[in-house]
Amino acid sequence: MMKTSSKTKSVLQLPRNRESAGTRVGKQDTRLLDAEQFLLPTYKRQPVIMTHGRGAHVFDSAGKKYLDFLGGIAVNALGHAHPRIVKVIRREAARAIHLSNLFHNAYQGPLARKLAGWSGMDRVFFSNSGTEAIDGAMKLARLFGRKPEEAPGTAAEKHRFLALENSFHGRTFGAISLTATEKYRLPFSPVVPGAEFVRFNDVADLEAKFDDTVCGIFVETIQGEGGIYPVSEVFWNRARALATQHGALLIADEIQCGLGRTARYFAYQKFSARPDIVLIAKPLAAGLPLGAILATEEIASRVSPGMHGTTFGGGPLACAAALEFLKIVEDEKLLENIRARGAELREGLAKLAARFDFIREVRGEGLMLGVELSVEGGPFVSEAMRRGLLINCTHDFTLRLLPPFIITRAQVWEFLRLFELVLATTPRQVSTPDTVKSAESNRVAHATAR
Ligand SMILES: Cc1ncc(COP(=O)(O)O)c(C=O)c1O
Repeated sequence: MMKTSSKTKSVLQLPRNRESAGTRVGKQDTRLLDAEQFLLPTYKRQPVIMTHGRGAHVFDSAGKKYLDFLGGIAVNALGHAHPRIVKVIRREAARAIHLSNLFHNAYQGPLARKLAGWSGMDRVFFSNSGTEAIDGAMKLARLFGRKPEEAPGTAAEKHRFLALENSFHGRTFGAISLTATEKYRLPFSPVVPGAEFVRFNDVADLEAKFDDTVCGIFVETIQGEGGIYPVSEVFWNRARALATQHGALLIADEIQCGLGRTARYFAYQKFSARPDIVLIAKPLAAGLPLGAILATEEIASRVSPGMHGTTFGGGPLACAAALEFLKIVEDEKLLENIRARGAELREGLAKLAARFDFIREVRGEGLMLGVELSVEGGPFVSEAMRRGLLINCTHDFTLRLLPPFIITRAQVWEFLRLFELVLATTPRQVSTPDTVKSAESNRVAHATAR
């Protein structure tokens, strides 16, 4: 009881001005102290409180402005406070924030139609997050693989999942069982049985592991958390052919790389072969939680009422925001902007790579770029933040850039100027044996792929 009331009190004491520094105890902001004391320690958070954003910038509680090249890890594709999104959210919040999935709402159907048009899929299920979309797709793959003569409750012959080494698919039990990185998976063993990892872009390994017992293969078209590695066309085509041959599903995880980020609606659209299922989330509802499973009619025909569901997924507020997001991408011709700004960024980064010998490689497409270093990336992220630039580091050595689709030419130049300063002034850190091991295994995994 005591704890609850003291917690409430500290929140109520917060100053009304959202840009002020909050209540202080000694040198510490009480909001940071509360976070430290009461949150599960799942994140190594930077010791700042972000309060608001505008366009491609975010601001912290001390009023410091940051150029946002992280975009909420690929969520804030329209930057912050896009006037059309703000308008729709205000309008819908005053109408109905939630309506049960036992009824239709005004936005699910039209949004599903629009997503079907963008993707070439036929049917949509709305979830709340990416990881839930992954788990739903695992269920669909198992369902699709089950033969009529196999009794429900028994393990179907066709039950195995394939995923790729270095993959990241989320945090629920299904998704971690498809996530190769051991630190995300092993502490929670045993995970969902039946998953196996194929070496990245390695067609021989894919062929060796594919047989009639596989019900689905999950592929991030561009690996995001793994360090921005695009899957090759040869591998994609072979995965398509083997899935068709063995009656399995090819499932594209486009949660990070989809919905415009590569200057195409979906990253897989650079290939002629189509997946059976496409999974999306992150930018879909412009910052509100929403994910989706997009599937073919053939798969959808196996689903009947009650087999899958969600309380919140596909609510009117999130779906209205998502519909507006997709329209904005079209109306503002953002795919063209992504292509042009992405090319400028690549060009600028290539010049920096020629100047700084510790840049190993620049990878990616559109506005999803990775700058792999031969030294640890963490200190560069901190220095960038000190200079008012938000980026992050994935797999210890790759700096990841996920700027919003609305980024301007001037902001690309501002980024390149700041990034050059960061590269020039950050002390290079000697790596620990653990990070060297992780980077080496990542490099080896991808080197075999090229
Ligand atoms: C490729 C990919 N798949 C799945 C997920 C999980 O999505 P969520 O965090 O919305 O559950 C992520 C999140 O980073 C992702 O990048």
